[in-house]
Amino acid sequence: MIWILMDLSILVLLFSLLCFDKIHATELSTISGSQVLTNNDTLVSPAAIFELGFFQPDNTASKYLGIWYKKISVKTVVWVANRDHPITNASAVPLVLNITDLGNLVLFNNSTIIWSSNTTSTASISLTVKLLDTGNLVMVGPQEKMIWQSFDHPTDTLLPGMKLGKDYLRDIEWHLTSWNSNQDPSPSGLTWGADIIGYPENKLRQGSVVKYRGGPWSNQRFTGASQFNRSLTFVYEVVLTKSEVSFSYILENSSMLTRTALNSSGQLESSVWVEEGKKWQLSLSLPRDICDTYNICGEYGSCSLDTVTQSCACFDEKRFVPRDEKRWDTADFSGGCVRRTPLDCKNGSDGFIKYSNVKLPDAEDTWFNMSMSLNECEEECLKNCSCMAYANPDTNVGSRGCVIWLSDLKDIRVYSAAGVGQDIFVKMASSEIVGQSSNTKKGDAKVKIMLVVIIPVVLIICGLSTWLWYARKKRKHAEQMEGGVSESQLPLFSFSTIATATANFSTDNVLGEGGFGPVYKGVLKEGLEIAVKRHSKTSGQGIDEFKNEVITVSKLQHRNLVKLLGCCIQGDEKLLVYEYMPNKSLDSLIFDQKQSMVLNWSKRFNIIKGIARGLLYLHHDSRLRIIHRDLKASNILLDEDMNPKISDFGIARSFGGNETEANTHRVVGTYGYMAPEYALDGLFSIKSDVFSYGVLVLEIVSGKKNRGFIHPEHDNNLIGHAWSVYNEGRSMELIDENLAKSCDKSEVIRSIEVGLLCVQQNAGDRPNMSSVVRMLDDEGTLPIPKQPAFYMQGELLVADFTSSTYNAGSVSDLTITEVDSR
Ligand SMILES: *[C@@H]1O[C@H](CO)[C@@H](O)[C@H](O)[C@H]1NC(C)=O
Ligand SMILES: *[C@@H]1O[C@H](CO)[C@@H](O)[C@H](O)[C@H]1NC(C)=O
Ligand SMILES: *[C@@H]1O[C@H](CO)[C@@H](O)[C@H](O)[C@H]1NC(C)=O
Ligand SMILES: *[C@@H]1O[C@H](CO)[C@@H](O)[C@H](O)[C@H]1NC(C)=O
Repeated sequence: MIWILMDLSILVLLFSLLCFDKIHATELSTISGSQVLTNNDTLVSPAAIFELGFFQPDNTASKYLGIWYKKISVKTVVWVANRDHPITNASAVPLVLNITDLGNLVLFNNSTIIWSSNTTSTASISLTVKLLDTGNLVMVGPQEKMIWQSFDHPTDTLLPGMKLGKDYLRDIEWHLTSWNSNQDPSPSGLTWGADIIGYPENKLRQGSVVKYRGGPWSNQRFTGASQFNRSLTFVYEVVLTKSEVSFSYILENSSMLTRTALNSSGQLESSVWVEEGKKWQLSLSLPRDICDTYNICGEYGSCSLDTVTQSCACFDEKRFVPRDEKRWDTADFSGGCVRRTPLDCKNGSDGFIKYSNVKLPDAEDTWFNMSMSLNECEEECLKNCSCMAYANPDTNVGSRGCVIWLSDLKDIRVYSAAGVGQDIFVKMASSEIVGQSSNTKKGDAKVKIMLVVIIPVVLIICGLSTWLWYARKKRKHAEQMEGGVSESQLPLFSFSTIATATANFSTDNVLGEGGFGPVYKGVLKEGLEIAVKRHSKTSGQGIDEFKNEVITVSKLQHRNLVKLLGCCIQGDEKLLVYEYMPNKSLDSLIFDQKQSMVLNWSKRFNIIKGIARGLLYLHHDSRLRIIHRDLKASNILLDEDMNPKISDFGIARSFGGNETEANTHRVVGTYGYMAPEYALDGLFSIKSDVFSYGVLVLEIVSGKKNRGFIHPEHDNNLIGHAWSVYNEGRSMELIDENLAKSCDKSEVIRSIEVGLLCVQQNAGDRPNMSSVVRMLDDEGTLPIPKQPAFYMQGELLVADFTSSTYNAGSVSDLTITEVDSR
């Protein structure tokens, strides 16, 4: 057989040399009969989107038959025929792709078979090879009968229309295998494909080891991806039949070029071609973060990014406990968690608790029936003692579907951003459910109330902003603001209005000096009092920070955040107009001997709680996730009732829903308030704000500054002092003498403990703001703080760092704007 093929091939080769010399270096649109594609020929799809031909990766002597985009300037190979048989001696002899008499598509190098489709067809005479505009290379017989297609043999790229999964009738399995390197298309050990045991889902594997799970299939989205680009409308298609289990996607807008490829470092990347930029724009990259690592926290464990250090917790800390507490404490999470109360299946008393926004667990050990309703699913799970949980993986509203998990739940993840995960119902012993049912109801009621409140508010905001937009369009401002500021839909004041309001920026009107310039008091014609932040031309704050502040603040609405009324950009002048706060900033009161009398304990406790709520809103509740980065006493303003308002967002960073941590090469902030990991490594997160909050709480309680704190008996800073009195059970000694009479002792002690918890050295040990708010409101017991950061003078890391870089005295409370941390 091989001999026959070879003989044929030599004939064909000779034939091609004799007769087809002319077509060298031409573009063909179809090959039929035994026509040939040789060395420099290419086969082009009808709309010239894809091209088939020979390519040679940079810096190699190897040639491959492959398909790439014809339309775009960056050579992007999407399929390779002979990926594990490179042609290394191709210079002398022509390469030939032809259809043999037996109906086989074969690539010859001289007389050697390099690659073959392994097909046979009796109708070989009428076979046609075509490259379609989808990127699919097909060989069809009469009536377009498909003999072979490249889509059945994916390499590292999944194009729209390609499938992952299995065709049982033809015994074909579709999965991606990455290239070994950018220059070497040979298959590496990394694969991305369907795990069709149990309910199907895609898994990234290295050899047989699972690295990452895409989450059970859904018609709507990648359920296991915590982030995906909503602006691209992918339409997913899931087939679950006896003859085929497959997953594929198409694009709603087929004129966009998009591909999903598994790269050689094991990252699954979706990209879109951007013609203007002439580049592939990454839209999705999985696995996304450390918490995506397969089963990182063990059974019933869940990984959270809300801490700077990687951290695992039991997925429901009330009802599950680590299997081995000791190993768990040493960060060995492999044992996972177990139910606090074991199930009691035999007596039939178990029930279920619903968890939302969850990445559904590994579905390998599951049973499913997609015609069942959720109620039938629950019954099915109750009947079977191995069933641990059930869920409907189909996220379409009103859809049916039932998956039941038949062993302990692995690789769960609870997302913090809403609308990413799915609902799962986990089986629980009846005693664990008692508290829950009322909880759920309360939760439902809350949701209802929230909807009742939120929907009208959203409608009003939408209406208002549309109206504002039209109004603004009509007005056509003479001064066009740059970039994003114009999109923030914020009132614009003219410079002359502000100048009049502030008596030409009279020195009598100066309220204070902010990090980037003076702040003036003003009165608008209507009688409204305003505070105007004028950015000095020489200030460290450039146009970027300015825009950042405007855009950030204009989107925030909370009673504990200062309200931005508008802004003004004219020439070099950059002005921000805020609501006026008659009682100035917190530092002007608490650190001043006389003024501090104004703030009795109940007012201070109110301030401590108000700042916590404002910060909670920034971190968790606002549409953007915002890290303030410069929380300090001088940035807390007080209204006429002494309610605190957080201000100064010049260096705040907003984050996408799920991001919680970032690194910066520019450390900005104020010494004395900066968390160690931020001051030293430039690593900031919501937990670095928590640290600053802790310092602030201790300052409010004691009326002393952390920086520059002096004690007659020791060299500790305020944090160190608070820690030592707390440790000796003398916490009340920390309090400002002026308060001693008015205070509620338990509130004071609670505040000091919360303050100490917030200034823990390890960011993972600090509570998040929702816990802080709860701790302050609640009478329950608090966790015991460990020794905080910057305890002893000798360990005053930040101060040491400061004195070597800056003159500590002169910069004391100013915001440091540019310190390169590396
Ligand atoms: C054709 O068969 C050979 C030998 O069994 C195999 O190595 C090769 O991968 C097959 N080619 C295709 C395209 O399936
Ligand atoms: C589809 O995508 C193309 C190219 O990106 C774009 O020009 C076109 O406007 C899009 N069409 C629709 C309906 O979104
Ligand atoms: C799936 O569920 C439907 C509806 O309950 C039922 O009619 C059908 O028999 C079930 N199929 C299997 C295989 O259990
Ligand atoms: C639970 O259900 C699975 C799937 O239907 C079945 O294989 C298993 O035998 C059942 N176990 C029990 C104890 O009923």
